[in-house]
Amino acid sequence: MTRKHSSLRGRTLINLFFENSTRTRTSFRAWPAKRLGGDVINMSVGTSSIKKGETLIDTAMTLNAMHPDVLVVRHADSGAVHLLAEKVNCSVINAGDGTHEHPTQALLDALTIRRRLGRGLEGLTVAICGDIAHSRVARSNIHLMAIMGARVRAVAPPTLIPAGLERMGVEIHHDMERGLADVDIIMMLRLQTERMKGSFVPSIREYYRLYGLDYEKLKVAKPDALIMHPGPMNRGVEIASEVADDIDRSLIREQVEMGVAVRMACLDALVSAQVAPVGKEPVIHIRDERADDPHNLQKCPLARPGKRSRRARRGVGRGWTGGRGGSTGLHRRGPGGC
Ligand code: NCD
Repeated sequence: MTRKHSSLRGRTLINLFFENSTRTRTSFRAWPAKRLGGDVINMSVGTSSIKKGETLIDTAMTLNAMHPDVLVVRHADSGAVHLLAEKVNCSVINAGDGTHEHPTQALLDALTIRRRLGRGLEGLTVAICGDIAHSRVARSNIHLMAIMGARVRAVAPPTLIPAGLERMGVEIHHDMERGLADVDIIMMLRLQTERMKGSFVPSIREYYRLYGLDYEKLKVAKPDALIMHPGPMNRGVEIASEVADDIDRSLIREQVEMGVAVRMACLDALVSAQVAPVGKEPVIHIRDERADDPHNLQKCPLARPGKRSRRARRGVGRGWTGGRGGSTGLHRRGPGGC
């Protein structure tokens, strides 16, 4: 996206990040104003009443009273964004909730692959490697890659594979040699120690020896296999520096670039009253009742009509029709709408 559009002109976006972020926050901070002409308010959790003990619901109600058009929320608890989305009548974008979902990351990953290969993802084999148990990126990618026709493998020690993962249609491997054999795409994940309760690997050195991606382990993948990482990267822990920086194989820089494009596209879709074609459900709307149950996520019904808020009936910021619930994706609906 190089041209300046004005689809956010006169609209207000509030960024509410309860967790640290570099890439995601930057793409929702500067670019919506610069490229789409919107007004962006960045709430700092450190200085807001949240630190004084205000509950998430109170915060949601306070922000709702300011009539934003879009709320972008990142939270350390799985399901928190869903909860918040139920209380407000503006669009809500999940910028990552706990170990649950990170939908815009999956969208940007898919776009990055498509652009590099010049084709869709059908028939590709994608290996997601590393700390899958604590990764919202993995979960969103597993859903999206399957929808787009790719086969997904999870490669990690047993301690870092979440219970029930096989029910999401993923092939599980505990060693890199088998897990990477003939794959087209390798997505490396960081050890997300801040989300861990306890110790999951014997030592970093041991982890790198067995699961760190280096040229030796890469040999079993397809000769032109591409490497991805959502960042932040820990060089020498899950990935060797020379592999991460290999301009022929690594898509890591492109992922950051596509992150801006995808997030602008999501905002544009939400505020430009874009609707999903009749009979086609929006790609990343997946209902969840229990955020941490992957089986439950899979069974969820797709597009279902929600009640439309007064603002939505007036066409204010109307987005995807169907107003599906769930904390996973882009929400466009009023309170009690689903
Ligand atoms: C990811 C996240 O926050 O879940 N990073 C990101 O959005 N760029 C992955 C991670 O933290 O490891």
